[in-house]
Parts: sequence; structure tokens; C-alpha cells
Amino acid sequence: MSQLSRFPSPLRYPGGKGKIANFVKILMIENGLAGRDYVEPYAGGASVALSLLFEGYADRAFINDLNPGVHAFWSSAVSRTDELCALIETTPVTMQTWHEQREIANSPEAEGLDLGFATFFLNRTNRSGIISGGVIGGLDQTGQWKIDARYNVESLVQRIRKIGRHRSSIVVSNEDAVQFVRQWSDPAEDAAFLYLDPPYFEKGEGLYDNFYDAADHAEIAESVAHLAHPWIVSYDARPEITQLYPDALQIRYGLTYSAHRDSASGSEIMFFSDGLKVPEMLPNGISISQVVKAQRLALAR
Ligand SMILES: C[S@@+](CC[C@H](N)C(=O)[O-])C[C@H]1O[C@@H](n2cnc3c(N)ncnc32)[C@H](O)[C@@H]1O
Repeated sequence: MSQLSRFPSPLRYPGGKGKIANFVKILMIENGLAGRDYVEPYAGGASVALSLLFEGYADRAFINDLNPGVHAFWSSAVSRTDELCALIETTPVTMQTWHEQREIANSPEAEGLDLGFATFFLNRTNRSGIISGGVIGGLDQTGQWKIDARYNVESLVQRIRKIGRHRSSIVVSNEDAVQFVRQWSDPAEDAAFLYLDPPYFEKGEGLYDNFYDAADHAEIAESVAHLAHPWIVSYDARPEITQLYPDALQIRYGLTYSAHRDSASGSEIMFFSDGLKVPEMLPNGISISQVVKAQRLALAR
């Protein structure tokens, strides 16, 4: 598999959902959802959306994110592809550029291509892709890895050009998820499938600032309950979250799997809209029957 299809997103995303893409493809096929609009209200790195679109599982991809920098990046990649690629090809990856781009990213006035490129630059040169985090190699660049360790111009430009070629099938927006999903409360809307990956309940270090509190988690659960199109929601497995989706079918899994972390005690959880058939393969790539087998083996020991 080429780099381009394995990592379709130009953004690095902490806890990115690369593995989920295969699960979503199987889920769409098994439930007859292929060829619909695919909607991500909390898109972040949008790697699932891009995989589905590029491989023909989705007719159109809706990429929404409230973070202005993340939105400016997607908007630039889709609508100003050539200019963004030219910036990537000509801007030196140095500490001086890093300081300049950090200033742009922190400026409340920054917008459009400037903000989109600054977000991209910091995502590719900071540790774990965290926009507000520290640069790879440290400010004095004495670390083992240097600022450009994750900045392969050729591969990144290729990924952005591919996004540009699909621009007529990508809809980018910058709304609060609760307002954004409202249009899919209407059954007359074009057939869609939604994957919601809200900020985790337990706030960790992330690419984005996590402003979600308990009321926000409850509000999006309420909006999801009114959706007229099939959906899935993924979260960290916390009782405060499971109680918000009392009627939904749910599965637990660990994104890093070991025989001890079986499907019942995994740290991640996924909820499914009414009537969706859950694939045999879990979102971490492990099949449900393998998990059951591992549990049996553990019990027999
Ligand atoms: C858990 S991340 C999504 C990660 C994404 N699934 C991926 O694989 O890259 C949550 C995203 O939601 C965005 N976000 C936070 N609050 C939001 C809101 N109220 N409405 C829409 N997006 C929001 C954040 O900027 C962040 O990019």
C-alpha cells in the first residue's frame, strides 16, 4: 500500500483514527451505506473521511471543525490547493519560520491561507502534531529528531493535490457540531452516514483546545438522538458518557490491543444508531471472535 493511501491526511492527529477507517468501510458495506454522503462534524485530521472518499465508499465528504486553524487548513487544501502547495514547497523549514508561523497561528486576526498554512506548519513540526506544543528537537534543535523530521515536502504536497482533485466532492465548514448536524434531522436530506468523534470526556493534550464540558457532551447526545440518518459516535469509555446514550448499541475496544484488554474492558467506546448491524471486526482491527477466544484462553489459564 502506498504512503498516499495509507496516510491520506496531511495533518498529524494525536490519537488519530487511522484504524477506524477499515472498520467504517466494512460497516458501510454490511449496512448498505456505501455511496452516501459521509459526514464528520468533528473532523480534525479527517483521515477516515478522506479514505472513504478516495476509495469510493462515500459520494461526498463533509468536513466540519469548529477550530479556526483546522478549518482554515481544510478550506485552503480544497479551494487554494496550488497556493498552499507553493507555500509548502518554497517555505524553509527552519526555527525562524517556526517562530513566524507560531505568531500567525496565535494571532486573532489571522485567517484564510495564512492561518491554514500556519496550522499545517506547526502540526508537522511540533511534537505529536500539537499546535500549541513544542517543536520537534527543542528550541535549540539539539534533540535526536529535528524540526523537519515529519516534513516530507513531496509526500505532503501529493496528499494535498489529491484533496484538490476531489474538491467537487468535499464540503468544508466551520460550525459548532450541534448546529452543523441539524440538517440531518431531516429525513428528506440526501442519504448520509455520520461519524461523530467529539472531544474526549477526559481532557488530554490535544491538537485542539478541548472546551467541552458535561453540558456540551449532553447537548450533542441530544442532537444525535434526533438524527434521521444512520450514525456512529466514538468516545473514551466513561460512565458519564455511556449514560448519555442509554438506548444505543455499544461496543468497547482498546486502540492498543492486548489479550488482557478485551472488548469488555477497552478504554474506547462506540455507539451505533438503531438498526445498524455491527461488523465482526472491531474498530481496532481485532475481530470479535478473536477477542472471545483470547478471553477463553485467559480464563483457562
Ligand atoms: C477528537 S478530535 C477529532 C479527531 C478526528 N476524528 C481525527 O481522527 O483526526 C475532535 C475535533 O473536534 C473539534 N471540535 C471541538 N469542539 C467542537 C465543536 N463544538 N464543534 C465542532 N468541532 C469541534 C476539535 O477542533 C477537534 O479537531
